[in-house]
Amino acid sequence: MLSRAVLIFAVVISLAACQSKKKEINFPKTDLSTVALIPKPVKTVATNSAFGLDSNTVILTTLTDSEFEKAGRFLAEKVNAKLGFDLKVNNASDKDEIDRVIYINQSDSVDLKTPESYQLYIKKDSIYLNAKTAAGAFRGVQTLRQLIPEQSNDTLTDHPLWLIPSGKIYDEPLFEYRGAMLDVARHFFTVDEVKKFIDILAYYKYNALHLHLTDDQGWRLEIKSWPKLTEVGGKTEVGGGEGGFYTQEDYKDLVQYAADRHIIIVPEVDMPGHTNAASVSYPFLNGNGKKVAPYTGTQVGFSTFDAQKDTVYAFLDDVIREISELSPGPYFHIGGDESHVTKKKDYLYFVEKVEKIVRKHGKRAMGWNEIAQAKIDSSTVAQLWNEPHNAIKAAEGGSKILLSPAKKAYLDMQYDSLSKYGLHWAAYIPVDTAYNWSPETYVPEIPKEQILGIEAPLWSETISNSAELEYLAFPRAIGYAELGWSQPENRNWEDYKLRLAQQVPYLNTMNVNFYPSKLIDWEK
Ligand code: ACM
Repeated sequence: MLSRAVLIFAVVISLAACQSKKKEINFPKTDLSTVALIPKPVKTVATNSAFGLDSNTVILTTLTDSEFEKAGRFLAEKVNAKLGFDLKVNNASDKDEIDRVIYINQSDSVDLKTPESYQLYIKKDSIYLNAKTAAGAFRGVQTLRQLIPEQSNDTLTDHPLWLIPSGKIYDEPLFEYRGAMLDVARHFFTVDEVKKFIDILAYYKYNALHLHLTDDQGWRLEIKSWPKLTEVGGKTEVGGGEGGFYTQEDYKDLVQYAADRHIIIVPEVDMPGHTNAASVSYPFLNGNGKKVAPYTGTQVGFSTFDAQKDTVYAFLDDVIREISELSPGPYFHIGGDESHVTKKKDYLYFVEKVEKIVRKHGKRAMGWNEIAQAKIDSSTVAQLWNEPHNAIKAAEGGSKILLSPAKKAYLDMQYDSLSKYGLHWAAYIPVDTAYNWSPETYVPEIPKEQILGIEAPLWSETISNSAELEYLAFPRAIGYAELGWSQPENRNWEDYKLRLAQQVPYLNTMNVNFYPSKLIDWEK
């Protein structure tokens, strides 16, 4: 390891010497500040030259943290796929003549203020990506990907160069949590469908995917100590389809795939309402006194766990333990919304008890804004969706707030009355409405320091495959990425919509069935 580190140091040092013997390339003028980056970085300084990415470019990384090397390999894989190269990482020998290097460097600079902060220094012969943590390096790698043009320049040398404009980028996120939610309970989505969604989220610097794993219509994650949850409760979905579920191995695979992209999975077991599928599997859980039959409609608010039974809490202890053991992220979401047939005193008792079970298993509880009616711990996060007064109450008690106001941030709301998929009980949300709000001031009573971040939920009553998911999620989820990452002074609809229009090559390469809103002059 040491000798490789010394070698890489030598390579970087000798680069300048090598370069002086080479013929200077006269790069055309470029402007780093006009590249269509989303989310927009904190600060960009253009120096009007370029780095010519080619098939001989060497990618080197800090070797003291293997996660930095992984970020380098991720970059190499994406560049190779896009440009047909065969770049390797940390693979140069001292005999190689190195013209150009991308160096991903662990740095303890005080200017890197958050774990996801990064800096990019782009010069003619080198790109330095500095970050304190591998998560920061990974975010910077996404910026680098977005800086690679679609067309090469074939006239500057004897081989094509993809010109990356030179300059400096200083960047960090506005909020520590930038999430999307996918409801895999109303309709089931396969591991591969979820992975594709994660890939696109990663490109726009999301760092959380909340999976709504259970609801009246289905239970989607294998629980070894209660197998009927999936054997019975996994077999139904909205509209009468066959449903489905993730084995624990499937779920671990998803968690790892997300972690490889520095994205956490936030598992949700929605309760005490939204629990019909669990009670179909184990009828003792049911607390509404009615016979439990499978449900494949789209009504809400009719089911509840029995909050008075100790056996219900013993069951939940097993469920929360098993899922927590599979989920390295810090959060466990307990739902808590729309428990319309749970008595108020039972609801409060239930939330307080379940929140303690979550903490016992080493997680921070998260719940929809209704949970703030109970005495929740200040470590618990309240997710605002429809009741600002409950979010304010939670914030007053010291809790952090996750912003998902249905009128602005629900990905399942239709764009307009002609939208093929989605609902409109909260609002129609065209692409500009989705972008034109300010999370930092959305609820004036909640100070910015208490906002954990934003999350865009995608409920799946009306969608059941990737194409339908993508129609609702994109392009709006790209705008939420910017609301969660970029500084308020850097966000502007007129500027954003030009950058959004230029996402077409990426979205097409990924085969994303985005909604072609007429508000955007999409690149042809
Ligand atoms: C919700 O939309 N019921 C959280």
